[in-house]
Amino acid sequence: MTRAWFPTFIYSEPLMPSGLERLNADLAAECRSLREFDRRGREWSRKNYPGGYTSYASLNELHHFSSTFTRLEKRIARHVRSFAGALDMDLRGRRIRMTDCWVNIMPPTAAHSLHLHPLAFVSGTYYVAAPRGCPGLKFEDPRLDRFMAAPPRLAGARRANLSHVTYPARAGNLVLFESWLRHEVAQNRTDAERISISFNYNWS
Ligand code: NI
Repeated sequence: MTRAWFPTFIYSEPLMPSGLERLNADLAAECRSLREFDRRGREWSRKNYPGGYTSYASLNELHHFSSTFTRLEKRIARHVRSFAGALDMDLRGRRIRMTDCWVNIMPPTAAHSLHLHPLAFVSGTYYVAAPRGCPGLKFEDPRLDRFMAAPPRLAGARRANLSHVTYPARAGNLVLFESWLRHEVAQNRTDAERISISFNYNWS
């Protein structure tokens, strides 16, 4: 008998049942005005996020500085607890805390190379604007570098046996993953901006 062990979990749900359009309109306006205002972030992005803008290195605690982002954080926390529950993590009597929260704006041609999120246990992304055809979030099997001698997978391989999976970017949707899971965003080949908000959670 062959059984699966040590799975990798990825969570994807709408942030809330209704009111997403209004929230996303507010967030999109705020994200764009942050870009206007955040000169240091624009400079950092020029070197580290070619073609796009991220507040990752400049304004990365947005949930403490903007009421819109504080509201967003409250909504996200519920999902993080639910995800941790699906992983059987014991958070009884423990606190979870959003440690970082930043904006990513990917205009046409921008891409975001493979990375992970250090110093956190759960990370994720919320989609504010996802133009039709824009790239999703591509995850890599965390054991990929150990498969040195494995034969290639069949074209019709079962989903759990694939070495990559891409979650489409959908405005109003939240994607959560364990922070060690590497991911990337391919080049935005649409002619519109893709806007997302990324975050990290820790526990104590
Ligand atoms: Ni990321």
